[in-house]
Amino acid sequence: MPFLSLLSILLFGLLLSRSQLVITHLLNDQSTLLAIGKELKLPEWKSREKNSNPCTWAGIFCSSNNSFVERLDLSNHGLQGNITLISELKSLKWLDLSHNNFHGNIPPAFGNLSELEFLDLSFNNFGGSIPSDLGRLKNLRALNLSNNMLIGTIPDELEDLKKLQDLQVFTNRLNGPIPLWVGNLTNLRVFTAYENELSGVIPDKLGLVSELQLLNLHSNKLEGSIPEAIFAMGKLENLVLTQNRLSGYIPESIGKCKGLSSIRIGNNNLIGGIPREIGEISSLTYFEADNNNLSGEIVADFSKCSNLTLLNLASNGFSGTVPPEFGLLNNLQELIVSANNLFGEIPQSILRGKNLSKLDLSNNRFNGTLPEGICNASRLQFLLLGQNSIGGKIPNEIGNCAKLLELQLGSNYLTGNIPPEIGRIKNLQIALNLSSNHLNGQLPAELGRLDKLVSLDVSNNQLSGSIPVALKGMLSLIEVNFSNNQFTGPIPFFVPFQKSPSSSFLGNKGICGEPLNVSCGGLTDSDRNVDHHKVSYRIILAVVGSDEQISNKPVIVAGNVFVENLRQAIDFEAVAKAIMKDSNKLSVGTFSAVYRADMPSGVTLSVRKLKSMDKTIVHHKSKMIREVEKMSKLCHDNLMGPIGFVVFEDAMLLLHQYFPNGTLAQFLHDSKEKQDYKPDWPSRLAVAIGVAQGLAFLHHMAIIHLDISSGNVFLDSNFNPLVGEVEISKLLDPSTGTASISAVAGSYGYIAPEYAYTMQVTAPGNVYSYGVVLLEILTTKLPVDETFGEGIDLVKWVHSAPARGETPEQILDPRLSTVSFVWRKEMLAALKVALLCTDTTPAKRPKLKKVVEMLQEITQN
Ligand SMILES: *[C@@H]1O[C@H](CO)[C@@H](O)[C@H](O)[C@H]1NC(C)=O
Ligand SMILES: *[C@@H]1O[C@H](CO)[C@@H](O)[C@H](O)[C@H]1NC(C)=O
Ligand SMILES: *[C@@H]1O[C@H](CO)[C@@H](O)[C@H](O)[C@H]1NC(C)=O
Ligand SMILES: *[C@@H]1O[C@H](CO)[C@@H](O)[C@H](O)[C@H]1NC(C)=O
Ligand SMILES: *[C@@H]1O[C@H](CO)[C@@H](O)[C@H](O)[C@H]1NC(C)=O
Ligand SMILES: *[C@@H]1O[C@H](CO)[C@@H](O)[C@H](O)[C@H]1NC(C)=O
Ligand SMILES: *[C@@H]1O[C@H](CO)[C@@H](O)[C@H](O)[C@H]1NC(C)=O
Ligand SMILES: *[C@@H]1O[C@H](CO)[C@@H](O)[C@H](O)[C@H]1NC(C)=O
Ligand SMILES: *[C@@H]1O[C@H](CO)[C@@H](O)[C@H](O)[C@H]1NC(C)=O
Ligand SMILES: *[C@@H]1O[C@H](CO)[C@@H](O)[C@H](O)[C@H]1NC(C)=O
Ligand SMILES: *[C@@H]1O[C@H](CO)[C@@H](O)[C@H](O)[C@H]1NC(C)=O
Repeated sequence: MPFLSLLSILLFGLLLSRSQLVITHLLNDQSTLLAIGKELKLPEWKSREKNSNPCTWAGIFCSSNNSFVERLDLSNHGLQGNITLISELKSLKWLDLSHNNFHGNIPPAFGNLSELEFLDLSFNNFGGSIPSDLGRLKNLRALNLSNNMLIGTIPDELEDLKKLQDLQVFTNRLNGPIPLWVGNLTNLRVFTAYENELSGVIPDKLGLVSELQLLNLHSNKLEGSIPEAIFAMGKLENLVLTQNRLSGYIPESIGKCKGLSSIRIGNNNLIGGIPREIGEISSLTYFEADNNNLSGEIVADFSKCSNLTLLNLASNGFSGTVPPEFGLLNNLQELIVSANNLFGEIPQSILRGKNLSKLDLSNNRFNGTLPEGICNASRLQFLLLGQNSIGGKIPNEIGNCAKLLELQLGSNYLTGNIPPEIGRIKNLQIALNLSSNHLNGQLPAELGRLDKLVSLDVSNNQLSGSIPVALKGMLSLIEVNFSNNQFTGPIPFFVPFQKSPSSSFLGNKGICGEPLNVSCGGLTDSDRNVDHHKVSYRIILAVVGSDEQISNKPVIVAGNVFVENLRQAIDFEAVAKAIMKDSNKLSVGTFSAVYRADMPSGVTLSVRKLKSMDKTIVHHKSKMIREVEKMSKLCHDNLMGPIGFVVFEDAMLLLHQYFPNGTLAQFLHDSKEKQDYKPDWPSRLAVAIGVAQGLAFLHHMAIIHLDISSGNVFLDSNFNPLVGEVEISKLLDPSTGTASISAVAGSYGYIAPEYAYTMQVTAPGNVYSYGVVLLEILTTKLPVDETFGEGIDLVKWVHSAPARGETPEQILDPRLSTVSFVWRKEMLAALKVALLCTDTTPAKRPKLKKVVEMLQEITQN
């Protein structure tokens, strides 16, 4: 104890002898706090050691008369060490140790903190079982043990926590049943236990919890039926039971919960129909019941839920037609009913829905035609009608589907020509699939305008004529299939064509040239190459030109620059002008496009324009601005935080530092053929570690990245990597309602396989995407490349190397792995990490924190 403070306390005590007892208390807490600060290596507290009043220290809040420490908030400090001492702060009411690196058991001595009302130990590495001593915290209102590595059952002693309002234990390894006594916690509002190994049934008794608003138990091993009783009290707002083994019927009592806005019960074994009472849930916004064994007709009663935004009934046994009343659902954004037994016309009333962005009717027996008004009023981004019995022609009006990202019409009975208007769907990027129909005539040259399209499949039709040279305008193409048609003439000389497997061109009458083994006998496209190059170039220019005409002068609604000494140098008008020129475009991602902007002051910025799916930007403007401001304070050497923003009426621009050395993708792949490439493994490993550190920090702050790819990793002049687009999940997070829920999160080749059925980006999903980046660094190969073979991406190619009889060395970039024995050894160690990260089972992937450790170990050994 420092002499000075002891003296001052003694003096103080003499003056106020009545309060001597109180001062003794504070004295006790102070020495405990100093010991805690020392144990946890809290620099802030250490430098304050001479200060006699801990009530002013960071994270400490005292009672109003400064007698006791009542709140201790040490969240988000990367702390580790022994926290048992905290149990000596006897007056503590509020303890938050979340988002640190604490491990070992939760100290049973915490059971002694009898005043505690709030205990948050979430997002650490606590192991062992939940100590039964916590049952002694009789005043506890909130207990959060989520995101640790806790095992065993939920101890029965917690039954005594009668005041509990929030009980959160998600993402641990807890097993055993959900205790019956949870039904006795009458004040419970929030109960989450998702991502554990809980088994048994959902207790009926939960129905006694009259205040329950949020029940989230997804991804466990729960069985039995959804108890009717849980809807009895009618307060439930959010029910998530996805990915369990639940069976039986959806109870009719569900209609009693008028305030239920989200119901997610997909991936179970539920049977029977959807009760008509569903129409009584006036607040219903999300209803997801895909991958069950539900049957009967889709009830028209859904149409009474005017707020319904997403309806997913895919992969069940529904029959009949889609009720025309669904046209009343003005807010519907996604209707997903694929893989059922539905038939009839494509419901026109639904197509009139102003907000519809995803219509997935694929894999049913729909047998109408494509209506002319298909995109009359449409924000449609995903039109998925493949594998049905749709006949008739593709209407020319398909060209009105301006927002479309994916068009799946394969395996139907479509006839007639491919309308050239398809070339007007400039946004088309994920896929255009017209395969396995009865289409005839020539391929329209206008397809060449689809310069964002990645995958084109026109196979198995009766298309004829030559493959138009103008298709060279499809600059983003990776996958093509022209097989089994009646095409003739030479295959145009275009890298995506020649890199395709020959199977993409087989089954045609008179087609020749690479990649087929058929010579064109002197008549090759490359002879005419120069000319055609000009043609496709002109097409692109024309398209760019029209884009510029459309965009009127935007009105700046708000703007700010967070960096004091850059305020003068940044001109919002100049920013606005820069993004109107396509020549300034540096890259395009799933959620945003990046432009270079040269300020009149000489400063160069990188400007990220968010792709607004709807007018949400205006609606959520102030919220988004708050988020950006928050993100600007998020400092990490490997994260690219915003230095400012500009908001227009319908767009948000994020301003960042400009990195002239480009992205990791450019470094890895554009330099691939460079003759003078000097291999340097250590710097690549440093990049890998840097990216992992940035992402680990994000996860530590509970932020999930929506689009990790090498194209989103920027390199500064010291080759230090910075992960970009970190703000997106905060700005366009579907769960906060600030964006259209249909955005595909992630880039092709980086998306974790489970995303296909969960449609949720998770921390393990991020680890997978990171693993792909690490594989790119190790192999210098693209995440998706035809050379891997049909349907095989980089991850599959690497994981299947043993099956092909290849050694790990045959995977690694030989320009690096053959340089030295040490490099080779390190690369093999890093490969091991990448394999762990890309495991198909999300639970088996390491956390990013662990990834950083494993990679750092490589450099140390
Ligand atoms: C200080 O406040 C606490 C409650 O927060 C109370 O128990 C204690 O008696 C108070 N002490 C004085 C000296 O007022
Ligand atoms: C933590 O410290 C307490 C004493 O404050 C001690 O009893 C306990 O064994 C320590 N725990 C560990 C894991 O070192
Ligand atoms: C709780 O505090 C008492 C003294 O008040 C002590 O004897 C006991 O060891 C503490 N319990 C735990 C589990 O540390
Ligand atoms: C833990 O749960 C409590 C109670 O629900 C909540 O207030 C708190 O924000 C949660 N902690 C984290 C880090 O999410
Ligand atoms: C719930 O409380 C009631 C009455 O206090 C008691 O009889 C019952 O045993 C408790 N249930 C459980 C499962 O503990
Ligand atoms: C529909 O959503 C709006 C906006 O969230 C809300 O104000 C309204 O109360 C909701 N309607 C119903 C019937 O719940
Ligand atoms: C689905 O339900 C039907 C009866 O409705 C039954 O015949 C079938 O076996 C069930 N399928 C599965 C996979 O449970
Ligand atoms: C749906 O469209 C209507 C009419 O265009 C609009 O008022 C409403 O805000 C939209 N809802 C959503 C969720 O975008
Ligand atoms: C579509 O299929 C249904 C049921 O098989 C049949 O009744 C109807 O006539 C068919 N419609 C058309 C246009 O073929
Ligand atoms: C589409 O618009 C046309 C002309 O405006 C109209 O005749 C047709 O009924 C509309 N179709 C749909 C499905 O809205
Ligand atoms: C970054 O780019 C500049 C010029 O574009 C080049 O001179 C420099 O070597 C690059 N730095 C690294 C680390 O590649």
